Order: sequence, then C-alpha cells, then structure tokens
Amino acid sequence: MDKQKRENQAPHILVLPYPQQGHINPMLQFAKRLIQNGAKVTLVNTISIWNKINNNIDLNSIEIESISDGYDNGGPSSAESMDAYKDKFWKVGPKTLSQLLDKLQSSNKPVDCVVYDAFLHWTFDVSKSFGIPVAVFLTQACSVNTINFHAFKGWLDLPLLETEIVLPGLPKLDASDLPPFLNQYGTYPRSFDILTNQFLNIDQADWVFVNTFYELEPKVVDWLAKKWRLKTIGPCVPSMFLDKRLQNDKDYGISIFGPNSETCIKWLDNKPKNSVVYVSFGSLSDLSVDQTKEIAYGLRDSGVYFIWVIRDSEKHKISIEFMESSFEKGLIVNWCPQLQVLQHEAVGCFVTHCGWNSTMEALSVGVSVIAMPLWTDQITNAKFIVDVWKIGVKAVKDEKEVVRRETIKDCIKIIMETEKGNEIKKNVIKWKNLAEKSVDEGGSSDKNIVEFVNELTL
Ligand code: UDX
Repeated sequence: MDKQKRENQAPHILVLPYPQQGHINPMLQFAKRLIQNGAKVTLVNTISIWNKINNNIDLNSIEIESISDGYDNGGPSSAESMDAYKDKFWKVGPKTLSQLLDKLQSSNKPVDCVVYDAFLHWTFDVSKSFGIPVAVFLTQACSVNTINFHAFKGWLDLPLLETEIVLPGLPKLDASDLPPFLNQYGTYPRSFDILTNQFLNIDQADWVFVNTFYELEPKVVDWLAKKWRLKTIGPCVPSMFLDKRLQNDKDYGISIFGPNSETCIKWLDNKPKNSVVYVSFGSLSDLSVDQTKEIAYGLRDSGVYFIWVIRDSEKHKISIEFMESSFEKGLIVNWCPQLQVLQHEAVGCFVTHCGWNSTMEALSVGVSVIAMPLWTDQITNAKFIVDVWKIGVKAVKDEKEVVRRETIKDCIKIIMETEKGNEIKKNVIKWKNLAEKSVDEGGSSDKNIVEFVNELTL
C-alpha cells in the first residue's frame, strides 16, 4: 500500500474482549476513548455475542467483526459444560481470528495493533504471526493482577500455608482475602488456568493496559510497571459519567441481557434524595435460594426503597408473595442501566458483589457500597473497598456462608443513617473526584491513551 496514503490514515486498532458482559463493557469504553483520540477501531467478538446484542447496539463509528467460539448458535449456555466451552473456544478462536486478520491485513485498512483481553492469551501468537504489535488488556484491578501474577510465577506457595500474605505494593492480606481459586487451591482448575495464563507472553507485549487509575493503586502499579509496559487507562465507564467534555453523549454501553429497563429512572425520579438502595450482583451471579431470601427480607425489614436486579435466570429463587408485598417499596428488574441508576440522586447505597466494573462504577459516580462478594476477584476487591479505599462496609457471612437479613439491615443502617456512613460517603466522593481527574484532559489515564494512539500514528 502507498506509504503516504497510509500515513494519513488513523491507526487501525482491533479490540478483542472475552465474550462476557463484564469484559465487553470496559473494552468497549476503551475503544471509544481510542476513537475520541483519532484511532479507527474494529471491535471483535464471537458470533453468538453479536447475535445477542445486535438489536440494541449503538456503536457509532466502531466497526464490528466476528470470530467463533465453536458455539455460534448459543454461546457458553449451549455448551455441555464450561470446560467443554473453553476447550472448544481455545481451538476454534485462534483459527477464526487468524482468518479475520488474514482478511483485514490484505484489505485497505490493515490492523496496526491488536488490543486483546488477557483471558484470550492465544491472541498474542496469532497477532505476532502477522507481525502486528499487541497490547494486553487486563480487566481486573492491578492489586488482583499482582496476586494472580505471583501464582503464575510460582511465587505463592500453593496450597497456601501462611495465613498472612505479603506481596509487593499491597497491604498485608489474609489468605481469605485472596480469590478462591488460590485460597481454596485445586477447587477451581478452569479459573486457575484462565487467570494465571493471562500472563503468558505479557512481558513481550508492546503495551499492557489495566482498567484502573494510577491514583487508586499507585504502589502496585509502580511495581508492575517495572516488569511490563503497563499503562493505567481507567475507569473504563461510559465517558459522559466522568468527562465533562462529553456530557451530551448518551451512550450507556451495550447489554447482552436485552434492553435496559427505562422504568428504573422514572421510578427513581419520585423518590427522595439518598433514599434508595440499589442491589445488583452483576451478570454472572448464581445466589442460593437461601441467600436470595435473606436479601429479600433484609431489604423489607430495613423499610428502605430499593431497586433489585434479578436476572430472568434467577427469578425462580424469589417468592411471588415477596414481590407483591414489596411492591410499594421495591422495584425488581431483569437488567437496568446501572450507571444511570447509580448516578441518580435518589440512590444512597449500592449492595454489590464487588465485580471490578461495579466497583469502578460506584467509585466513579460516588455511591457508598455494601460489599457482598461472591467469588473470584470480588473477594479481594471487597477487602480494598472496605479497608483500603474505605468506600463501604462488608456484609459478613455466617457459618453457612450466607449473609443474614439482620446483617443486611445493619449494613444499610450504617451507610444510610450513621456518622460512619457519612465518613464513607466523604471518601467515595474523594475517589470520584480523583477518578474524574484521571480521565480528564491531561489526567493520568487520559495521557496514557493519548500517548498510545500517538505512538501508533507516528
Ligand atoms: C465479572 C466478574 O464478576 C468481575 O469481578 C470481573 O472483574 C469481570 O467479570 P460481573 O460479575 O458481571 O463481571 O460484574 P461486573 O464486573 O460488576 O460487571 C457487570 C457489568 O454489568 C457492569 O458494568 C454493570 O454496570 C453492568 N450491569 C449490571 C448493568 O448494566 N445492568 C445491570 O442491571 C447489572
């Protein structure tokens, strides 16, 4: 291709998230930031994911392309098991990505860089076989990545014998603060495999991006940045929530769970300031029937207004009587525009599973948290939420691993009614301001994104 012509073009960046809501959301927002800075972006995902979101998609200038996970007609839920899904995806994914790159490299818009979700580590080899530079995208907190990296390197003695874990850049942790695939070593082999293999080839990657901001985890970012070409680029939330330059942008992200419930915002409009508890456990949660019941009664006994996201696949766990008796105080929805809900002035508290996106979103809009982690990185995120960033309280489980209704009621009271709750609110506002600064013009994350696009443009 004519060199002059090529130089005049925006760099073409291919962005490939793992096919899950919690991974697509931050990488889509990152893609939008790249476009804002002059890049051309192609967002790649599996055929089954695009089939789910095509109807409510608004991607503006992002082009979309597909690869296959081997389950084009149903995705993971149509696989015999998650192990079978992963095995097939790991075989079919690289082949179909290779076919896609083959097509794009011989088109008039060849790819200048592949930004891939670290879960899909095989993207490194496929991209390098075409001579394309790569950037690894880590969707979880830097603190969690450090822990997982230690496991990958064999620097953690597994199974854990020590109860006190001391790692560079992190406060002292208890073994129980680590993700379950480490502190219950051997119990989750697939998670262990995916989470530790994120670091295969990472030291040879041209860039490593993490969905966090420097001011939130400075010591651990500094430590990891000595090992890899690490750049913080978060919080990756729809830009208008943080960036004053984009207040008129009406992008709330995309959903694989069908259209968002508009009802929530209208419902919130009639509620007093800080009076509503928002309850959501993300896109993958599978709460026990007992736990679901305890949450229901905890909310009812608190007497607060609440919005509770219960995905259709979870609805059978809650009784119709409860739904009817809670009608006056509560709204139960299948899915909602989470950021819009969190940002609404009626919302005073977020009961969350501490998924990394939900954590960053609470922090970005300044809502105090009741931490009810379920598994994976959520356990570690909850530790930082409560003890390091001090933006919430933890709802502690009983010996049967269930958070009881009294605990939920007490936590809501602390956040909504006490001096401790006021202190927590002040802290979360402090972090919100720092998050805003980081993505604003010249902020730590903004600078890193600008530099990346500029480097590719040279
Ligand atoms: C998973 C893991 O749990 C998480 O810890 C990891 O970091 C990413 O993958 P998930 O469980 O779905 O993600 O939680 P989370 O990271 O919080 O992501 C959920 C996303 O769905 C958030 O961006 C949230 O805003 C969005 N959401 C959730 C909605 O838009 N509407 C809803 O009703 C519920």
